[in-house]
Amino acid sequence: MENPLYFCMPSRVLLEMGARRRVAPLCQSQGWRHALLVTDAFFAGQTSVVRDLVGDLAAHGIACTVYAGGQPDPSTTLCDQATTEITAKAGSDGIDHLIALGGGSNIDLAKAMSLTVRFRLPVASFVGHTRWPGLPLPLVAMPTTSGTGSEITPGSILVHPENSTKVAVMGNSLRPFMAIIDPELTMSCPPRVTADAGMDALCHAIESWLTKDSADFPVGDDPDPGYSGRNRVTTLFARESVGLCFTHLERCYRTPEDTAARTGMAYASLLAALSYGSAGLHAVHGLAYALAGLTHASHGSTNAVLLPYVMDALVPYRTDELADIARLAGMTGHDETRLARNACAHVRDLVTRLGIPGNLKDFGIGPGDLPRLVQDGLAVTRLAKACPAPSVDAIYADIVNNAFSGRLAGD
Ligand SMILES: NC(=O)c1ccc[n+]([C@@H]2O[C@H](COP(=O)([O-])OP(=O)(O)OC[C@H]3O[C@@H](n4cnc5c(N)ncnc54)[C@H](O)[C@@H]3O)[C@@H](O)[C@H]2O)c1
Repeated sequence: MENPLYFCMPSRVLLEMGARRRVAPLCQSQGWRHALLVTDAFFAGQTSVVRDLVGDLAAHGIACTVYAGGQPDPSTTLCDQATTEITAKAGSDGIDHLIALGGGSNIDLAKAMSLTVRFRLPVASFVGHTRWPGLPLPLVAMPTTSGTGSEITPGSILVHPENSTKVAVMGNSLRPFMAIIDPELTMSCPPRVTADAGMDALCHAIESWLTKDSADFPVGDDPDPGYSGRNRVTTLFARESVGLCFTHLERCYRTPEDTAARTGMAYASLLAALSYGSAGLHAVHGLAYALAGLTHASHGSTNAVLLPYVMDALVPYRTDELADIARLAGMTGHDETRLARNACAHVRDLVTRLGIPGNLKDFGIGPGDLPRLVQDGLAVTRLAKACPAPSVDAIYADIVNNAFSGRLAGD
């Protein structure tokens, strides 16, 4: 009970089938007059969601400027181009809030633009520190995937085009003002997007459950840290999310029209974010950023291929938690270490059943890439510092070698 608790609540969350129809009245209730809707060509061109939302907003006295140029894994260049395009439009100085519609990519782009449009500065002015000239514009985030949880987290993750690494604009004031989670919006996700995003949610839940305790977490001299280690509140959410992912993820993948499973995964994604959104992440995401830099594969798939091997490497330090994860998967027994090892195999089996390679070799990585993966993963120091093992260099090397050969200790 002695751990410090630093838990950042989202200010408003609405999760409901059809919740998108409550966005306009909610925006009106805030007295807002002009929205910037950030989305992509799929939602603007192939669905009626944007048209309906713009109509609803107009009916509530709110003008809406639409930016539909969102792309998967947005870059800092895209953010600056989008900002220039929007701010050049007549009347754009009246924009008083943003609405993000899409997966984590569009939400992250909108988060960054809530600063760049407000202050008319390039996004580089906001990367890596929180000494911003003031608060971002308020953001309403409407996720269309169940995975990233970006609708309640403090980060916007953007690709740096020069070196393919991801940089973060990060600060508690970047947490969206409202998260409107409508599981109906996820029904059109193809199975590949469902599986990759869903594995991202499972990673968030497991990784944040296993991370450093808040008592040991190095927050430095930051008085308002975005991430500050696990505590009794975050672990409650993590545990609940893992159970929901085990129950619902594969069902969503195999039966995309299963509304109960889609709602289950919407909850799983939110609950995982309520955990990692304060506790933070470490080895899976750190190494996955490096893997994405080499392969340009989707965020969720790069996490998924590494997750079982990170869990496996952490068995000596997080035996009880991993044994609990095995129990959530329906396993029984009294040997905690055996259960923990079985949890790793269970997750690896799930990954492959979801059509994601179970090792780095099958992911297209060669033996010559391994040192670079370790080095680039360690370079993401904000994540490496949270890894709950005595020697992070050594454990990252073990994880990468075992993930390459597909070897778990329990095999
Ligand atoms: N800020 C954070 O806290 C955070 C956390 C995790 C991940 N991320 C970022 O989120 C991104 C990944 O997000 P994602 O997994 O949600 O995928 P995504 O947003 O990149 O979308 C992937 C593809 O799926 C399509 N898509 C999305 N929703 C759809 C739907 N309902 N129907 C049909 N197609 C749909 C998109 O148009 C896109 O082509 C990465 O860039 C990652 O870095 C951010």
